[in-house]
Amino acid sequence: MAKRKILVAGNPMLRKRSEEVDKLDKKTLRLLSDMAETMYAADGVGLAAPQIGVLKRMVVIDTGEEEGMGLLEFINPVITKKEGSITMCEGCLSVPDYEGEVERAEKVECTFFDRRGKQMLLEAEGILAVAVQHEIDHLDGVLFIDKASAILPKPKEEEVKETL
Ligand code: CO
Repeated sequence: MAKRKILVAGNPMLRKRSEEVDKLDKKTLRLLSDMAETMYAADGVGLAAPQIGVLKRMVVIDTGEEEGMGLLEFINPVITKKEGSITMCEGCLSVPDYEGEVERAEKVECTFFDRRGKQMLLEAEGILAVAVQHEIDHLDGVLFIDKASAILPKPKEEEVKETL
């Protein structure tokens, strides 16, 4: 596994539509592992392949222990159902200094393939549903700043610690 460089907003790769994965070869699976390593190293909860400069429809998400699901790997994810609405403050590893409130569906159903090529169905709500929608947007060249009602500079880490 290897940690990859994360592209930041302004890079044209982040604005392109990613292509479907058509075969699960070693290179593809290694890429998925690199995506997870890169996400964890950057303290993120999600990462999409275009964020490391690969225009393939692959996403990794790990929202943390409270969800109890560990690492989720999505190949060719498609949202098949959306329900309700939720507004959350979002950030993005490709927009490092800003955050913003985005309205999204509260619950989603998503089909995808796992690394063995098995088709899966995920029903997600809350932060996991938000993460799924945020990451799939990346595959279509969309960033949260396109959808946020307002974009604010992120508080510095020391300030965050004081408020906790
Ligand atoms: Co993002």
